[in-house]
Amino acid sequence: MDALLERRGPNVLLDQIYATRTVEDSRGNRFDPFPVAISYNEGRALYRLARKARARRILEVGMGYGISTLFLCQALRDNGGGVYAAVDPLERTRWRSIGLRNLQNAGLEDLVTLHEAPSYEVLPQLLRERERYGLIFIDGAHQLDYVFVDAFYADKLLEPEGFLVFDDVWARPVARAAALFCRPGRYRRVPGSSGPHPSPLWRLLSQSPWFLRALAKNPRWFFGGGRGSYWWTFQKMQDDFLPRAYTLANRDSSTLA
Ligand SMILES: C[S@@+](CC[C@H](N)C(=O)[O-])C[C@H]1O[C@@H](n2cnc3c(N)ncnc32)[C@H](O)[C@@H]1O
Repeated sequence: MDALLERRGPNVLLDQIYATRTVEDSRGNRFDPFPVAISYNEGRALYRLARKARARRILEVGMGYGISTLFLCQALRDNGGGVYAAVDPLERTRWRSIGLRNLQNAGLEDLVTLHEAPSYEVLPQLLRERERYGLIFIDGAHQLDYVFVDAFYADKLLEPEGFLVFDDVWARPVARAAALFCRPGRYRRVPGSSGPHPSPLWRLLSQSPWFLRALAKNPRWFFGGGRGSYWWTFQKMQDDFLPRAYTLANRDSSTLA
């Protein structure tokens, strides 16, 4: 499998997208998916991780043009099928359903359930429904409060020994959320499945609101078209003790009553 991946991606559509740097909507309008979409290296690392973990249940926050979705769903298909939950409130509006169209063209749409609402509404709902996932990829809103909420629920939704991947850890809020929720002891960092560490200059710059505004306006200046990306992968060692403590406390109070 690895030798094959050195020459081409896990599916023909991905090869085409990275070669032409183009995605298309149903009216034939073309768009450059970068740097919104993940880099080829990151996609390939995600594919390999999902294959190696034999993931059967994957959750993604932030689908966009669906490039990461293509890598992960292809891994799911190659693992023998499973469940893929994608969360993105703007899939049919801002992203013109291009992610869904890509999945259809790759023959992967049957795997995916798209939740068209913000993650802070969908993730608690999935938790209430007792859903659990073996791999969770977080690439939604990058502001501190939003990414903290994503990380909080992802931790609860992840199976023990499952993998949690944060994209764009060059952004300080994302790195802070990852560091807070994926503490040593409960998680282990998986260096072989992570991207390069953001340089001290990046970390310093990403604290500046001026820099973040400039980045949002001109992402291509900084990322050179999807080539530079930073992601961290963690493996969960054990569940949080809090839900168990909470259950015990409830049982005690009901006994008292
Ligand atoms: C960087 S793009 C994702 C790119 C995609 N993962 C890929 O590699 O092709 C970030 C996505 O997060 C979505 N998003 C923003 N806020 C969100 C939220 N609160 N919940 C879920 N998705 C959100 C945006 O609509 C956008 O599609």
